[in-house]
Amino acid sequence: VTGTLFGLGIGPGDPELITLKALNVLKRVPVIAYPAPENGDSLARSIVESYLPGNQEEICISTPMVAGNDPANEVYDRYSIEIAEHLNAGRDVAVLCEGDPFFFGSFMYLFGRLAETFPVEVVPGVTSLTACAAEAALPLTSRNDILTVLPGPLPEEELERRLKDTDAAAIMKVGRHREKIVRVLKKLGLTDKARYVERASTQSAKVCAVSDLDDAKTPYFSMILVHKRGEAWK
Ligand SMILES: C[S@@+](CC[C@H](N)C(=O)[O-])C[C@H]1O[C@@H](n2cnc3c(N)ncnc32)[C@H](O)[C@@H]1O
Repeated sequence: VTGTLFGLGIGPGDPELITLKALNVLKRVPVIAYPAPENGDSLARSIVESYLPGNQEEICISTPMVAGNDPANEVYDRYSIEIAEHLNAGRDVAVLCEGDPFFFGSFMYLFGRLAETFPVEVVPGVTSLTACAAEAALPLTSRNDILTVLPGPLPEEELERRLKDTDAAAIMKVGRHREKIVRVLKKLGLTDKARYVERASTQSAKVCAVSDLDDAKTPYFSMILVHKRGEAWK
């Protein structure tokens, strides 16, 4: 009997935003795995740290922050072998995923390598999308409005085209792409209708109008929300 691989959505940062289901799985599995930058702590592990029973084996999936798929592919090949060894020995493994595992989550790369061989359960989580809307007190979309989720690294013309063509947007992975995104919003006359949110649901959360952004470096965990009517309920 093999173990089950869990993709565990643990929410956007506030430890109270983990579901009861994810918490129950988290506490009972013998092995947890979580992504971490090569030279840094794992955000996912820090979210659930206070819940960890202390007797679990931990696999830190150390991923280089380098553009391109190849370094990451090599990492996922390697860690899927390590995880498969536990599963083959009958041990359940829970992979901690910030937000939701299937919403821009790196869990899907392990899922792609292991799901044909082992039983997999995905526990959905509160996404950063809804956490940012709550943090900014800004409903995302209503009625027949189209909400578009846009990755900030898109080329400028693509961002512009997609923003022109939608009613509301959530622009993710703002980080070092902020200048370009702000330029496009300005060009489309949307600056006053856009809110910037960083580290939603955590104690260091910040929300401000895009026009009030200062020169401070923009963290990766940030998003810009925009609705063309300003407020979705209008
Ligand atoms: C790789 S995606 C992961 C998304 C995650 N799986 C989810 O369900 O929200 C990373 C991006 O999510 C957004 N993000 C994640 N957590 C966030 C937070 N607490 N506040 C603001 N943005 C966040 C940022 O745009 C960040 O660049």
